[in-house]
Amino acid sequence: MRLDRFLSNLPCFNRQQVRLLLVQRRVRVDGVAIADPHHEVREFSRVEVDQQVLQAGRAPRYLMLHKPMGCVSATVDPQHRTVLDLLDEPDRNDLHIAGRLDFNTTGLLLLTNDGQWSRRLTQPKTGLAKTYYVETEQPITDAYAPTFGQGIYFAFENLTTLPAELTLLGSHSARLSIVEGRYHQVKRMFGFFDNKVTRLHRERMGPLHLDPQLAPGQYRALSQDEILAI
Ligand code: URA
Repeated sequence: MRLDRFLSNLPCFNRQQVRLLLVQRRVRVDGVAIADPHHEVREFSRVEVDQQVLQAGRAPRYLMLHKPMGCVSATVDPQHRTVLDLLDEPDRNDLHIAGRLDFNTTGLLLLTNDGQWSRRLTQPKTGLAKTYYVETEQPITDAYAPTFGQGIYFAFENLTTLPAELTLLGSHSARLSIVEGRYHQVKRMFGFFDNKVTRLHRERMGPLHLDPQLAPGQYRALSQDEILAI
């Protein structure tokens, strides 16, 4: 949000007072005096006027988890353990999942408290490929790749999936890259051919690969380079 809007949304200042505060350089964002009304204030910014703290700011957090089977991509579940239960972190309830995985899907799961970052990662318009290793009950024939490339009509949402790239690895296994994250998307795409997915593992989201050092259930913080890559 723009700094002038952030300040005038507070009950203590009207727009004229905000203009004056900025001109008088009495507003500090992350310790720096700011006069530009367009300066962006994020949920992580510390905002002060004179010595008064208006928003304390908090640290953005980014984690990569190797999701195991049999665990729900949700913050609470009455029956099963959730991915948050795997985290030994303070304030883990502040985190949200950037791109859920089904109960028995394994692989790369990203958790953060930074909504802008997770939107960039998951919105189809950013076009970041999510790559899955897939095993199926029936053989995967040569007809699949061109059909996935053209998109598959999902009647429930009344939409056609964006072009996806399929690479055959064996008679019953393949690597699939999609740029969306529709509900059960991969299973439904294979379902178009009446082929049941028996194993599903997310290897990559855009430039971020699942760290091979992480065993199922383990996690680590993202590096600065990984955070900035999104
Ligand atoms: N597509 C699915 O069908 N399931 C997942 O967990 C992820 C993508």
